[in-house]
Amino acid sequence: MPETEEISKGLEDVNIKWTRLTTIDGNKGILRYGGYSVEDIIASGAQDEEIQYLFLYGNLPTEQELRKYKETVQKGYKIPDFVINAIRQLPRESDAVAMQMAAVAAMAASETKFKWNKDTDRDVAAEMIGRMSAITVNVYRHIMNMPAELPKPSDSYAESFLNAAFGRKATKEEIDAMNTALILYTDHEVPASTTAGLVAVSTLSDMYSGITAALAALKGPLHGGAAEAAIAQFDEIKDPAMVEKWFNDNIINGKKRLMGFGHRVYKTYDPRAKIFKGIAEKLSSKKPEVHKVYEIATKLEDFGIKAFGSKGIYPNTDYFSGIVYMSIGFPLRNNIYTALFALSRVTGWQAHFIEYVEEQQRLIRPRAVYVGPAERKYVPIAERK
Ligand code: COA
Repeated sequence: MPETEEISKGLEDVNIKWTRLTTIDGNKGILRYGGYSVEDIIASGAQDEEIQYLFLYGNLPTEQELRKYKETVQKGYKIPDFVINAIRQLPRESDAVAMQMAAVAAMAASETKFKWNKDTDRDVAAEMIGRMSAITVNVYRHIMNMPAELPKPSDSYAESFLNAAFGRKATKEEIDAMNTALILYTDHEVPASTTAGLVAVSTLSDMYSGITAALAALKGPLHGGAAEAAIAQFDEIKDPAMVEKWFNDNIINGKKRLMGFGHRVYKTYDPRAKIFKGIAEKLSSKKPEVHKVYEIATKLEDFGIKAFGSKGIYPNTDYFSGIVYMSIGFPLRNNIYTALFALSRVTGWQAHFIEYVEEQQRLIRPRAVYVGPAERKYVPIAERK
């Protein structure tokens, strides 16, 4: 690397906006949504829609406000046929998040009248949360070779999603676990995906294009892709007795990264990972095949913390979430776990876009430090040696 002025590599510790949505204390392992700690929210049995509302409207809803909000979300369950076709024309082996991108891009292509507007932005976002459920149901069902289906209004967003995805009535335990996962992935300030989406909407591009950009950034294994990559490594280990050997061969000697470990902001245990771990333990106890995966994960976690804890590298939210998704009944394939992450994060993305466009709008356009050759004279191709 040439000697040069300092650049902010990975934009570490650069503040790109202010926010009222989410606050993280990475040293103490604290995460709050609009001032409410995630532990409190989960312990009080909140419904995901209450948290969606909090992100879009700034306060927890009254019963009446929640009822009206749910109706707007449910309007979004009826996605047009061309969105379903955008998914179903793709090969079944496609990446689930890329399929979501194709579907959301189809919406961006058709919503030509979209305009940012304080009076309508939140309703657009709420309806899109409903649409994202229908999109994800159809991504899942296409991968699983099941016919197209739309979510139907029910008591909760989690329930409508699971009933439509599986084509059967989900159990209370499955719904509760899905509801918690949806809440825990709602928002996390400005990670790579939210930032990518903010760059898109800072050009005054539309909501759907912002979500498409965010999905593109979420897909990679260093971000949301870790939800699937973490569990793929447990799957590769296969047997709790093989954890130590696998860890030494791959992580210590092979210099691979332990997926689901480490975080740009948290230098201690991610509070979401603690909650996911508790649910993974409870749900997997009833399913021997999943319990074996949980055992591998906890053993590997001990080796990981021993090796990396002193560097501030601990389990992050993606370490145990895959076991929860697996216990609910989702298979490990096609990046489905990351698509489930996106189903939830679409709330945080849109809330940040609205906050930015309505109150802080300015084109995001950073600079690069040029380190290439000094001025050179152009030589026509025939004269080049
Ligand atoms: N396993 C092993 N070593 C890790 C690690 C991991 N999961 N995460 C970070 N490190 C090490 C790096 O090798 C580097 O070591 P070095 O200083 O000796 O070279 C050091 O920690 C700093 O890593 P860096 O990539 O600069 O930190 P970052 O802030 O950019 O990384 C992540 C954040 C999330 C990209 C990183 O922790 C990671 O790749 N984790 C695995 C993927 C993952 O779980 N992503 C989901 C995040 S929610």
